[in-house]
Amino acid sequence: MDFELSEEQKELIERARVFFEPYAADTHKWYAKPQPQTLMEANKRLANAGFLGMGLSEDVGGLGVPTFDTCLVIEEASRHDPNTAYLMRNATAGPTAFIAFLGTRQQQEKYVKPVLEGRAVTAICITEPEAGSDATALKTTAKRTSSGWRLNGGKHYITHAHVANCYVVYAKFKEADDSVIGIGALLVEPGMQGVTLGPGVETMDGGRVYQLYFDDVEVPAENVLIPGKSDKAHFKRLMSVYNLERLSGQFRWLGVMQRAFDMAREHALTRRQFGRPIIEFQAIQLKLADMKVRLEAARLLLYRAAARVQQGLPRREDVSMAKILVQDSLKFVLDEAIQIHGGMGYTRELPLEYFQRLARLGSIGGGTVEIHRIGLASILAGRKLGVDA
Ligand code: COA
Repeated sequence: MDFELSEEQKELIERARVFFEPYAADTHKWYAKPQPQTLMEANKRLANAGFLGMGLSEDVGGLGVPTFDTCLVIEEASRHDPNTAYLMRNATAGPTAFIAFLGTRQQQEKYVKPVLEGRAVTAICITEPEAGSDATALKTTAKRTSSGWRLNGGKHYITHAHVANCYVVYAKFKEADDSVIGIGALLVEPGMQGVTLGPGVETMDGGRVYQLYFDDVEVPAENVLIPGKSDKAHFKRLMSVYNLERLSGQFRWLGVMQRAFDMAREHALTRRQFGRPIIEFQAIQLKLADMKVRLEAARLLLYRAAARVQQGLPRREDVSMAKILVQDSLKFVLDEAIQIHGGMGYTRELPLEYFQRLARLGSIGGGTVEIHRIGLASILAGRKLGVDA
């Protein structure tokens, strides 16, 4: 497999560099207080510059850029500012992708279009207090009524719940007699009666994630994204789109890793101690060499996962393998980058300490690396492994 980039891809990356580079200086400052206005202004600028909905098909208002190329843009964007890159990612391969891939024409018009125009964001709502890694243990239920579904339950740790105009809510669908149908998803608006936003909790990076409570929310039938199904078929379709979110997210961490490596290399070349640049010392040379090997190995596996995408969606095992290696490499590279910078690496003069806090999410969000390892082992075994296997 050859990952020599085409002229077109290089131009795309250059376009991303020109746009995102000016954000680099503010990376570790603006997200500290995620004000809705700041977020929406950034979204509007992204939309105007043609960075929202890149990987989505033209049918739904996207730009029809191949997934691999879109991921290259996410990587480049994140090298400068992983937060603005995150907004870009969310609108093309994140929560919005669920509606773009699985939604009806009417749902796409109503919820995808405003996102691509930079006027709205969507939020994916899976996690509950009792359903983290065990995501099928949902307590949130959608019970059939004469006109739609009655939603009860709650979610927590929801990113962008305070600004989203549409929540993609995973729920256990039930018949009116309480018999369980299966897991599906609904599109819930914050203004629907019975939806309450919680105060949220602060995260390690200074951001905030929120609780959402659903109390007898009447969700009309046309807002069902994908109904529950007894044979798990629809749960699997949701997970297939989720694989795209997981894959694109890793490109964000690849960009962060590249920046940390570049900073460490530059510092090693210019910082002088004991009368010479510190790159002259073998201790630093070995670190840089190991960082480079891990960075490039992670890149290769990730590029392969993106290059093998078919009909817009990646293979589950490709994503898990890439994620595991990216996360192992990310921790190593960030830690060594800080070490090479010495005292300065520990301060807030540089974004490295911020990256360290931000990137800690990488091996937890979107499925922990442990869950990805178990999933991979199940694929290898040809049968489900785990607690209730
Ligand atoms: N892509 C495609 N299909 C997937 C999938 C994925 N990523 N993960 C699971 N599936 C399929 C399984 O193959 C299985 O289908 P099969 O029975 O035909 O083989 C079906 O979905 C159910 O999977 P199973 O592992 O039996 O379900 P489970 O009830 O034990 O749930 C998960 C396990 C999927 C919840 C768990 O592996 C997981 O991903 N947890 C992390 C959740 C998460 O990311 N939370 C973070 C939210 S931010």
